[in-house]
Amino acid sequence: MSTSATTSIPMLRERPAWKALSKHYEEIRTRHLRELFAEDHARGERLVAEGAGLFLDYSKNRITDETVKLLRQLADESGLADRTAAMFRGERINVSENRSVLHIALRMPKSESLIVDGVDVVAEVHEVLERMAEFSERVRSGAWTGHTGKPIRSVVNIGIGGSDLGPVMAYEALRHYSNREMTFRFLSNVDSTDFVEATRDLDPEQTLFIVSSKTFTTLETMTNARSARDWALAALGDEAAVAKHFVAVSTNAEKVTEFGIDTENMFGFWEWVGGRYSMDSAIGLSTMLAIGPERFRELLAGFHDMDEHFRGAPPERNLPVLMGLLAVWYSDFFGAQTVGVMPYEQYLKRFPAYLQQLTMESNGKHVTLDGRPVDYDTGAIYWGEPGTNGQHSFYQLIHQGTRLIPVDLIGFAKTLNPLRDHHDLLMSNVFAQAEALAFGRTEAEVREEGTDEAIVPHRVMEGNRPTNVILAGQLTPRSLGALIALYEHSVFTQGVIWNIDSFDQWGVELGKALAQRIIPELESESEPELSHDSSTNALIRRYRTMKRG
Ligand code: F6P
Repeated sequence: MSTSATTSIPMLRERPAWKALSKHYEEIRTRHLRELFAEDHARGERLVAEGAGLFLDYSKNRITDETVKLLRQLADESGLADRTAAMFRGERINVSENRSVLHIALRMPKSESLIVDGVDVVAEVHEVLERMAEFSERVRSGAWTGHTGKPIRSVVNIGIGGSDLGPVMAYEALRHYSNREMTFRFLSNVDSTDFVEATRDLDPEQTLFIVSSKTFTTLETMTNARSARDWALAALGDEAAVAKHFVAVSTNAEKVTEFGIDTENMFGFWEWVGGRYSMDSAIGLSTMLAIGPERFRELLAGFHDMDEHFRGAPPERNLPVLMGLLAVWYSDFFGAQTVGVMPYEQYLKRFPAYLQQLTMESNGKHVTLDGRPVDYDTGAIYWGEPGTNGQHSFYQLIHQGTRLIPVDLIGFAKTLNPLRDHHDLLMSNVFAQAEALAFGRTEAEVREEGTDEAIVPHRVMEGNRPTNVILAGQLTPRSLGALIALYEHSVFTQGVIWNIDSFDQWGVELGKALAQRIIPELESESEPELSHDSSTNALIRRYRTMKRG
């Protein structure tokens, strides 16, 4: 399918809205949020949007109505509506890999259909979901037994990147809803410590390994999977045990069979699901085992709610579009290098780590769709920690440092674990941080507090630090799905403005290839001939000497 309509748009700096925004920025950069709020008493009620059960307050951003108008115009000139429609139609918008991008099909209800290249992908998705549900029920109920007849009580997901970060984040996020009789572990690093610590207290007779890898060739995952097979067979002593203790999630049936896992015990997905967009495909098998098929379906429904909101809501009320445009505004006009994402919800402790792959693998790109070098900044660095812990660590720099760091603060109206007044204390911090970051404390205010004159400059807080506040009712599978899809589509929106391929990841290849070349040089019994640069040669020699010593 043709993507020429989307690759031939003018370079970003040539688009009229960009030029208008550059001029507009010169006015806005000197405006303070204090003034913007003083001029418009309804600002806090006006600059908000709601969708898929999430509420976004974007009023504490360094914007006016004119900024929003120009950013919307930029979205139009960048072809956001066409590119969104092309994604939902299954066009090959991942141009450098010539693939469709259809994670949105993973959460379409069974009653819908989406025909791509003559195949109804929604029907295929639901076939796999049904197999996953049947398998999960058998494991959870104890009907599926290990080689010695005992029920499975521990599940170890072996995967890395998109085959790990989504599953581990979802497990932690939905731990409240999980089967507490079962233990879930997530093994990703090729560092043997990760393997040993993940398995040390598990009973091989009651452990199930899910080998999750889209390609089934990833060095870390395959190395861990082989060690897991050795670990299980050392205890169970029979090759036949593999069938009871290993299942695979992959698009590569051939490699799965080669590894020794029967394709009966394989859950497939498709090349149109990118690794970092796969936690709601069969890659979510560990999530389904933890929370059960019904709740997994609620998670999918949450994703779908946000997909529909993204597809249908007008830009000025569209959460992912607004957040995506604001991210571009700060990256490219204010020169912001990073975005902080702070969930005020302990269960979301792995959400920032998950977002790092989603945002940075997607939008860390240096050329446009048609291969021209970009002359503007693309994807920002995402990072974060759960509130309130971050406040006692790095928030000082956000409040008074010299860099501008836009922050997303995420909170829920109800906690899953009510205890005295903890939740009001937690949420008071969400609102207080957004207020302090926006309005700060002026010199006059500091003096009024009777501060010693020499200390006054130290205590002044400039404010004018932008935040988005995202609120939801309670952390449920459904609200989690909506929250993840919010960021997925915000990332997409940013990628469309920057006219980059948000769905490839060529930048990770070189390091992998070089490691393959270095492995035999580290393992060789005899002194290998080295032909790297002088630093790499010397490091390899030093490592060889040190490990012998
Ligand atoms: O190294 C990057 C990457 O290709 C990611 O995009 C992907 O999520 C991860 O590796 C794991 O890949 P696989 O699922 O094929 O093992």
